[in-house]
Amino acid sequence: MKKYSVLIVGGGSTYTPGMVLMLLSQLDRFPLRKIKLYDNDPERQEVIARACEIIIHEKAPEIEFLASTNPEEAYTDIDFAMAQIRVGKYAMRELDEKIPLKYDVVGQETCGPGGIAYGMRSIGGILENLDYMEKYSPNAWMLNYSNPAAIVAEATRRLRPNSKIINICDMPIELENHMATILGLKSRKEMDVRYFGLNHFGWWTEIHDKAGNDLMPRLKEHVRKYGYVEDESLYTDPKRDSWHATYQKARDILELDDAYLPNTYLKYYLFQDYVVKHSDKNYTRTNEVMDGREKDVFTACRKVAEDGHCHDDLFDVDNHATFIVDLATGIANNTHERMLLITENKGAIANFDPTAMVEVPCLVGKNGIEPLAMGEIPQFQKGLMEQQVSVEKLVVDAWITGSYHKLWQALTLSKTVPSATVAKQILDELIEANKGYWPELK
Ligand code: NAD
Ligand code: G6P
Ligand code: MN
Repeated sequence: MKKYSVLIVGGGSTYTPGMVLMLLSQLDRFPLRKIKLYDNDPERQEVIARACEIIIHEKAPEIEFLASTNPEEAYTDIDFAMAQIRVGKYAMRELDEKIPLKYDVVGQETCGPGGIAYGMRSIGGILENLDYMEKYSPNAWMLNYSNPAAIVAEATRRLRPNSKIINICDMPIELENHMATILGLKSRKEMDVRYFGLNHFGWWTEIHDKAGNDLMPRLKEHVRKYGYVEDESLYTDPKRDSWHATYQKARDILELDDAYLPNTYLKYYLFQDYVVKHSDKNYTRTNEVMDGREKDVFTACRKVAEDGHCHDDLFDVDNHATFIVDLATGIANNTHERMLLITENKGAIANFDPTAMVEVPCLVGKNGIEPLAMGEIPQFQKGLMEQQVSVEKLVVDAWITGSYHKLWQALTLSKTVPSATVAKQILDELIEANKGYWPELK
């Protein structure tokens, strides 16, 4: 079997050690000859890289390892770039969350003004990395899960239309894992799903088992009572607390429209006031992550480097990230596996903008991805999606043209923002905070 060379872009990410362990657990179906890390922050990547080097040397010494902050060295001779960058890191994510909250508006990584601000930072970072890939490994594919994936996808659709980039989100996968547990199935792969929406903004319309039996009634019955919380006893970790509330809130989303099962991110658009009321303006999700995942991962990496070897209990293997290997092998082996991906609509949702970047089931093959037809969608979802996709398109317009007004319109149109006045106040503060990260707006 051919062996592949993989580059993790954003090598200093908190997800990198779990991702490396996941890749090492999948070598029988996705054999590797090289694992490389690339980041533009040498200090941050160094800590993670020293641990990864020891882990790879222990578990699969035949795989070559290299960590670099030099784009040419990193991007030369790779088959896949797995991108997980966060432009501005947690310091800027914290501001994305806290600035809108000052005005009683949702403060969230990818939704509302925070997601818009993050998008204005991410577009340049992704384009820069895509250009490195095309220069040094023109046949490679970028599998991107850097956020905000919806805005990044719209930007690359417009600015790099021929690039080999596929944008993917783990939220549907995570929720399908919950559904499988709720149903007592061994794996989410025992379900066939139909789904439509935008990234962090979608609905499951049908879920069947492999024998064709309808699983929706049982799932809805559970979600009506508990949301996507499979079992309360699984939530003993306080670091996951705010996610627990998010999984629970799906019950209220389902109550509003019980035809389909919702993506949990819809709570930020449909229950904005509730979200603001239950946010701590001084301690947001970023603070939870910095005090939790970031601290744990960096402490564990330092320990591996000190001890010179890796104890098995130090890291969680990111098993749920095996979908990235599904995607890579789908391309490499032309499997035509069906996966939920972010892609240009082109009629997949019949009564929706053909140029919108939507999230729908797609077939994955050697030449890229093909969306499956989901047909017409109802007025309620269509109205919500048209508003949200317009926000995403206006952000990209603003980034390309440097237009203050386009960005003001984007914020005003976001369902999380109450008026153009509040939109302007938040925008002006975000512009100050993002100096050096955003193009200059006129
Ligand atoms: P993190 O801050 O720990 O890691 C991101 C790394 O990217 C940092 O080391 C940073 O230095 C690096 N970076 C920033 N700009 C860069 C650039 N231009 N070139 C190269 N490297 C750059 O963040 P994290 O919490 O581990 O998350 C990483 C990314 O993955 C985020 O974008 C997050 O939103 C995303 N994510 C997406 C999904 C999904 O479903 N799509 C799931 C989880 C995380
Ligand atoms: C889910 C989403 C990602 C998002 C992440 C945030 O996995 O699909 O897009 O980045 O949650 O998680 P965090 O633990 O950083 O808040
Ligand atoms: Mn996501």
